[in-house]
Amino acid sequence: FHVDWDLMTAEKAGYDHFMLKEIHEQPKAYRDTMLGRISEDGRSVELPELKMTAEQLKGINRVHIVACGTALHAGLVGKNVIESLVRIPVETDVASEYRYRSPIITPDTLVIVVSQSGETADTLAALREAQRCGARVLAITNVVGSSVAREADDVIITLAGPEIAVASTKAYSSQLIAFFLLGLYWAQTVGRKDEAEVANVLAAMQALPEQVEKILAQSEVIKQVAESISHHSSLFFIGRGVDYAVAMEGSLKLKEISYIHSEAYAAGELKHGTLALIEEGTPVIALLTQEDLYEKMLSNIKETKARGADVLGIVNEGREEEVAKSVDRQFAIPRTLPLLTPALSVIPLQLLSYYASLALGHDVDKPRNLAKSVTVE
Ligand code: AGP
Repeated sequence: FHVDWDLMTAEKAGYDHFMLKEIHEQPKAYRDTMLGRISEDGRSVELPELKMTAEQLKGINRVHIVACGTALHAGLVGKNVIESLVRIPVETDVASEYRYRSPIITPDTLVIVVSQSGETADTLAALREAQRCGARVLAITNVVGSSVAREADDVIITLAGPEIAVASTKAYSSQLIAFFLLGLYWAQTVGRKDEAEVANVLAAMQALPEQVEKILAQSEVIKQVAESISHHSSLFFIGRGVDYAVAMEGSLKLKEISYIHSEAYAAGELKHGTLALIEEGTPVIALLTQEDLYEKMLSNIKETKARGADVLGIVNEGREEEVAKSVDRQFAIPRTLPLLTPALSVIPLQLLSYYASLALGHDVDKPRNLAKSVTVE
């Protein structure tokens, strides 16, 4: 009798790769990151881990979000969250740029660093530079006791659990949950949102884990699209508003593990140059989750279709029939508040890159040239 397993396969809990396991752990990661941070009556956010007082938070008038790679993309969603809920200006910057550009930090600036590992050299150096300039630094990280967690003034831990695959999935989406919680906490503290508004967003947030499960149950649809795009050497992700931020994450994920070239574009910017690259059969992944930008997105999709693009639309449930006239294939995500859609729309994009990499026979968990934690500058 021979049992054919080793510790690594055991830790994969039956999944072929850590990345797939981690994609499937997202409902739990969402629940765990929310756990204990929402009041029992579901009407307010509690962040007892923050050392910052309500008075100090009220004194913040600008925010810099600094991070690398996927964490930076979470920061782009975070910018949208804080600006929408709190109505204060947020700048997002690449950590390796921020630290060398003499950032303008005023006494009322809060610097938020985002890092799964908490050990990324550029992010850590940016944190130190911000503190040297007198800023208070709040970290969103997944690793308790990491350098970033130890050195930041305030820390929000994402409870995604260990992330092994080089391609970040559950850490990214848990960072989004952390931003939702922070944005709501901030808005309620400064009186920007009343209790009913906060309760409404919290109820939508608590529905997210089940909605992710629903998306995961349809992985087969994405697998088929992934297999067809894996034959292409270049493709585009387009979106408007917060969909553009998610498009950037989808593009990075695909490049990272499938080695297929892709670019993310703000859909309205395409005609200023990039449209020249669209030819017969070029795959375009178009995100249409923002209802107020829906019509604009449809006209951008038409621009690509007129040049022969093969379009996959990521749409809100209920739009399928109508959108079918404008796209070649589509994937519908459950309805949520516009602000929260990135926590759902990123899931099909993660699956797309996973299955594309798999179809091409690459090492999904350990892509070439990359390390899980980048501790050199
Ligand atoms: C994510 O898929 C990448 N491997 C990479 O961009 C990563 O997010 C980046 O290096 C930042 O890492 P951190 O979150 O640990 O700081």
